[in-house]
Formats: sequence, structure tokens, C-alpha cells
Amino acid sequence: MRVSLFQNILTLLPPEVAHNLRMRLMRFVGRMPLGRWWMKQLYAPKQKELHTEVLGLSFRNPIGVAAGFDPDGDNLKNLGAMGFGFVELGSVMSRRHPGTPRPRLKRIRFKSSYLDKTGYPSLGLEHALSNVRKRHKHTKQLVIGCNISKITLTHPDDIAKEYLRVFRNMYQYVDFFVINIACSTSTKPFEPRTAEEIHAIIDPLFEFRRGQLDYRPVLLKISPDLTREELDTIIDILIETPLDGIEAVAGSSAMAKEQGCSTGGAVTGAMLIERAIDTVSYIAEKTEHNYPIIGSGGMMRPTDVKRMMEAGASLVALNTGLREHGMRMLKASVDELRNNPVTESTK
Ligand SMILES: Cc1cc2nc3c(=O)[nH]c(=O)nc-3n(C[C@H](O)[C@H](O)[C@H](O)COP(=O)(O)O)c2cc1C
Repeated sequence: MRVSLFQNILTLLPPEVAHNLRMRLMRFVGRMPLGRWWMKQLYAPKQKELHTEVLGLSFRNPIGVAAGFDPDGDNLKNLGAMGFGFVELGSVMSRRHPGTPRPRLKRIRFKSSYLDKTGYPSLGLEHALSNVRKRHKHTKQLVIGCNISKITLTHPDDIAKEYLRVFRNMYQYVDFFVINIACSTSTKPFEPRTAEEIHAIIDPLFEFRRGQLDYRPVLLKISPDLTREELDTIIDILIETPLDGIEAVAGSSAMAKEQGCSTGGAVTGAMLIERAIDTVSYIAEKTEHNYPIIGSGGMMRPTDVKRMMEAGASLVALNTGLREHGMRMLKASVDELRNNPVTESTK
């Protein structure tokens, strides 16, 4: 995959500075006359044959943007114009959350990976709402998911209420939800792992959904550090409750510890790929490919996207790969999937 000169310059900058610069530039170009048309010409895949139906929703292609890339939804219209199948907005938090003090995102040298200690900064629910309330022509075809995480310092008794508050307020404006119960990369990692802890968070969401006219699928985003036993618990929850699917995986806090990081944080990027694929294929096999899985973690090249789909993912969500290799990765991944289709027999 050819990387642009602009992308090469960005990789010389600290990763958070580079990303903020990209997102600001995207917003600036998007506001100019013909700006979005130009982004569409430059980045959007032309092929229509990757159109896919998952979760009862219609995706123009299975490749999306993972949470944390456009956390507050400020670039939804531009990412829509670029042709992504979906964007996972967020993590949306119930109120403004500054995250951990900078510098908090580091490249792990020679490993195409990040050490993420951002703590998931968010401008809060009201800001996200202002960006999703009105659908624009470029977001009409874009499926929008809302990822919800808890704020680092929330008291354990209030965690479920916090998820529910964001869920209720965003319900009518987005197409699906991802409930992130993986590590929040902050100094106080939060990873509920027992069935009881997970039920306490998702059951109130199902109860609220039961009273609504429109159905919004709910997925659980999980950590790559779960034991097989913990994964089996998640699979049981998937089968026994109205949960619609799983997103696997978030960044790895265990790998961050191996990197000598004792104060929270998670590894993202290339170092994650084998564990992410292993987790996706384990869930897919155990559930006989009957439930949608969003594959996330370590996809740095189009061939990684294909491997993730072969492992059993119905959709894939990119983050570090897009940051390090640029927005051309979408078109290159669509070409890869079109030229070497993932067939049932390769799954
Ligand atoms: C800077 C950064 C911020 C992130 N923020 C969030 C977030 O707010 N919520 C979330 O669920 N995941 C977040 N993630 C995790 C990603 O969505 C993704 O699951 C993880 O990075 C693995 O994918 P990747 O290897 O393609 O980056 C973030 C990742 C990075 C690198």
C-alpha cells in the first residue's frame, strides 16, 4: 500500500499531535466548497459489491472506523464522504472527560504499535449529540455506532447508571451501540469480567430498549486479555441474553504491563493482531458463526483486514492502522477484499 507524503510527515510527529492535525485539517477541508467532494474522489472506494447486511443494518462496505478515532463525532460527515462503511463514535461519556495528562500516546519503536494511556478523553454527551442530531447527505449512507465507556473516576455504584444515561440520550440518533467493558487505558483500569458484573451494565439497557419503537443492536466490546473461561462467560451471555454481537478486541493492558507500564495503559496496533484474530475465531467457532462480530485490533495492512474477516468477523474497525498508514487504507482494503474475496470456505 502506497503511503502519501502527508502521511509520512505525520509519522514524524508524536502520534496524538499527528492525529489532531489530521482531524483538524479534515474539518477545515470539509468546510471548504467542494472539500467533501474532493475527499470522496481521493479516498472513497468506487466498488459497490462489498455491500453487506449485518445486525439488520445495511453497510456499503464492511470497513469502519473504530472508537477513539473520531471520539466526539466532529468528522462524521467527512468520514462519511470518504466512504467508510461505518464509524464508531466515542467513547461517548456522560459528561466532559479530559483523559490522562499528556503525553499519553506513544509509539512502541519498531513494532508498529502504540502504548495508549489516553484514558479516552471525551467532550461529553451533549457535544456528541450536537453532531448526530441531524443527518447530512454524507452521513445518510454511513452507519453510525455509538461506543459508550465509563468515566475513570465514576463510583462503582454509578457505573451502570452512567452507561444507561448515554444509551438513552443517544438512542434515537445512532444505528447501533457498542458497550465497552474493556480496559479504559487510564490509571484506574476497568474491566468487568464476571457474568454478574456484565449483567449489571447491560440488563438496564435491554430493559430500556424493550420500551422503544425502534430496535438498536447492542454489542459488547471486550479485552484481548481474557482467559478462555472468561471468554466462555461472554459467549454464554451472548447466547442467553438479547445481546446482538461482540466487538473483539480493545487494546491490551497485559501487553502494556509487559512493556513495563505499571500505571494503566493498553497496547494497540500490530502487536495485537494475532491475539485479536485468535479471539475472533474462538468466538466465531464457539457460536457457529451465528452472531455478528466486529473485528478490531492490529490491522495495519489490507491483508490483515482480510485475515480478520476470514477468522469470522462480519465487520472490521480500524484505528492505529489508519493513524499510521493514512486514510488510503480504506480503498486498499476494499480492493484486497474484492480481488481476493472471503468465501465461506476460507472462514
Ligand atoms: C488513541 C486511541 C484512543 C482510543 N479510544 C478508544 C475509546 O475511546 N473507546 C474504545 O472503546 N476504544 C478506544 N480505542 C481502542 C480502539 O478502538 C481499538 O479497539 C484498539 O486500538 C485496537 O485496534 P487498533 O490496533 O486498530 O488500534 C482507542 C485506541 C487508540 C489508539
